[in-house]
Amino acid sequence: MIQIALLGFGVVGAGTAALLRKHEALIAARLGQSVRIKYILDLRDFPNSPFADRIVHDFNVIQNDPEIALIAEMMGGEHPAYDYTKALLLRGKSVVTSNKAVVAAFGVELLEIARQNHVSYAFEASVGGGIPIIRPMTTDFLSGQIQTIAGILNGTTNYILTQMKDCGKTYADALAEAQSKGYAEKDPTADVGGFDTCRKLCILTALATGILPQYTEVHTEGIAAISAEDVRILAHAGCAVKLLGVMQTQNGKPCCITAPFVCSEKHPLNNVNDVFNGILIHADPLGDTMFYGRGAGADPTASAVANDILSLIRDGMDSFAPTFVSARPGDLLPSQDFTARRYIRTAMPKEALTARFGDLHAVGDDAYCTAAAFSDSAFAALIKDVGQISTLRIL
Ligand code: HSE
Repeated sequence: MIQIALLGFGVVGAGTAALLRKHEALIAARLGQSVRIKYILDLRDFPNSPFADRIVHDFNVIQNDPEIALIAEMMGGEHPAYDYTKALLLRGKSVVTSNKAVVAAFGVELLEIARQNHVSYAFEASVGGGIPIIRPMTTDFLSGQIQTIAGILNGTTNYILTQMKDCGKTYADALAEAQSKGYAEKDPTADVGGFDTCRKLCILTALATGILPQYTEVHTEGIAAISAEDVRILAHAGCAVKLLGVMQTQNGKPCCITAPFVCSEKHPLNNVNDVFNGILIHADPLGDTMFYGRGAGADPTASAVANDILSLIRDGMDSFAPTFVSARPGDLLPSQDFTARRYIRTAMPKEALTARFGDLHAVGDDAYCTAAAFSDSAFAALIKDVGQISTLRIL
């Protein structure tokens, strides 16, 4: 029998405990030994939980127990999750996590500490909820070069956008529903502001390129400014507006951005709806590969956490060891160089717009898609004196 500990008994922590209990026999048969949760660290008590007797409030109980070699961190937020993780790795204990904030901010350091102590820091649940994406990125693209990542990486915002587009729900109602289903962060501004998507994009970029972008350097837009009129016009043309994290290689360097994008009717991400996430990866020579599944919520995220736990038990505590470095100046192109075609809606006459943007394809009254692609900085200069304009990048 192997004994483990959980840090955090919220949506994901409780889901992980429930999953390990539900599949206890299956797991024991697969691993040849059973997995027992010895401790669950939380500030609160849970007298009615079947795990009430495992709750502890003192982190030292866990870090000082030699029987505990593997811990799942599901606390959320950077601190004290980072501090606890570092302390555990330094003591030669493996940590698995769903905490993208810690991985995006401290992943380089924590992976190095894990390597030095012959243990693992595994983070399958940090991106894409239950979608297997982290491990495939560390093993299944080894022979190729990833050139583009485009991902719907946040279940809450995708749920909100889908409910608004397909069911006519208000933004507030759709957000409240996403929260009640356990999709949203404690503070949903991380979801709706795009920051959660941005951190996940940085983690995927690190695995794809070996360089972890500093998330504060990646231009990040949320969904608050999306115009209902644009959503309506684009839906009529078969297009969907999706909040995406995108890394594309331009002039041999990665360029990252988080923003709402237009996905045309035929684009594989167009139909990724509700809480589902979709991650499209273009690699040379493989071409396009799409990962799809439930991106948030207790069961999908717990599934990814539990898979990391069980993989480390089966394959060895030092078996997960990706490496990447923090971005240095010049490693990445700034987001303002991100280049895309544009959707524009403005009262300016079409002739004047064509003179400025080149060929246009009409998608509605006063609404067009450009044939040419523009960098963010070039586009900003072009629209300076246009007056009222609504615009989105096109994927
Ligand atoms: N709040 C996140 C989301 C949870 O909605 O995708 C999963 O990371």
